[in-house]
Amino acid sequence: MAKTARAHTNIALIKYWGKRDQDLILPYTDSLSLTLDEFYTTTTVQFDDQLTEDRIVIDHQDMPLANMGKVVTVLDRVRELAGITTPAHVISENHVPMAAGLASSASAMAALAGAASRAAGLDLSLTDLSRLARRGSGSASRSIFGGLVQWRRGNDDVTSYAEPILEQVDFGLEMLAIMINQDQKKVSSRGGMQLSVDTSPYFAMWPNVVEQDLTAMQQAIAEQDVATIGQIAEANAMRMHALTLSANPPFSYFEPATMTAIQAIQNLREQGLTCYYTMDAGPNVKVIYDRAHRDEIIAGLAPIFGQDQLVVAQPGPGITWLEEDLHE
Ligand code: DP6
Repeated sequence: MAKTARAHTNIALIKYWGKRDQDLILPYTDSLSLTLDEFYTTTTVQFDDQLTEDRIVIDHQDMPLANMGKVVTVLDRVRELAGITTPAHVISENHVPMAAGLASSASAMAALAGAASRAAGLDLSLTDLSRLARRGSGSASRSIFGGLVQWRRGNDDVTSYAEPILEQVDFGLEMLAIMINQDQKKVSSRGGMQLSVDTSPYFAMWPNVVEQDLTAMQQAIAEQDVATIGQIAEANAMRMHALTLSANPPFSYFEPATMTAIQAIQNLREQGLTCYYTMDAGPNVKVIYDRAHRDEIIAGLAPIFGQDQLVVAQPGPGITWLEEDLHE
């Protein structure tokens, strides 16, 4: 049976950057994210014994299996859980610019976990789906849920999964993506975080930094305080990026336009608007702001970046299953 699932991407407010176990994808720290409505992946999976190997089609393109390690990892885990060896036909459509720091692997691996598990006849709990998605990509564990989500680092495969901390986010927290460069990034998040773990002299401090930032973030969320949420997220993101600059060899996801965006946001803040920035493993900047200031923020950024580079996203939902079949 073909099964189709949709999952939305998420942007971390407290970043995941570093694995203790690279096979099981167990992180050094917890992380906390907001799932977004605007960027998502829809995936259909069918296990098909007519096939001799997995067939993976992404955005209408047949993908060479050699580049599909994360997808095959999730499929293999599903086959292991279901006790089957059948190859899978996967069709996936991204409503996310691929590999541009908009966490396409998060929505992709979450949707794949949902579709593949059901196509194999498994009926996994959301917790087990989060654990399964994690095996493909760490941040995908969080995309199983909507709203504000925390990935508990856990000690092993069983205890490392995400859970929602606030599914309905209705106190004005919003994000706007400034699309600076949509090209494939040069240093993957996987490679970049491992290099930081292995070589940054500051990495030893990172788990403590996250613990403190996380406690402050949970407090700010409980108080529904958008400004403090933004402030903590911004500081935590820049602390993560300090781990790239301090790696050996040093690297950075910043591009010149990234700095332009950061300065523009700082200027808007000086004018009294509630807005902060965060960045992942790519040059695009995400603005964290209070919905009440949206129009003024867009008016301030549009002359610099152009309206088509600005994408507003609201808090989004968790995984859903759809009747449609992308094979048809
Ligand atoms: C900067 O989840 O893409 O977006 O587990 O190796 O697949 P892998 O990495 P991935 O890393 C995400 C890094 C980040 C921060 C975050 O989303 O928490």
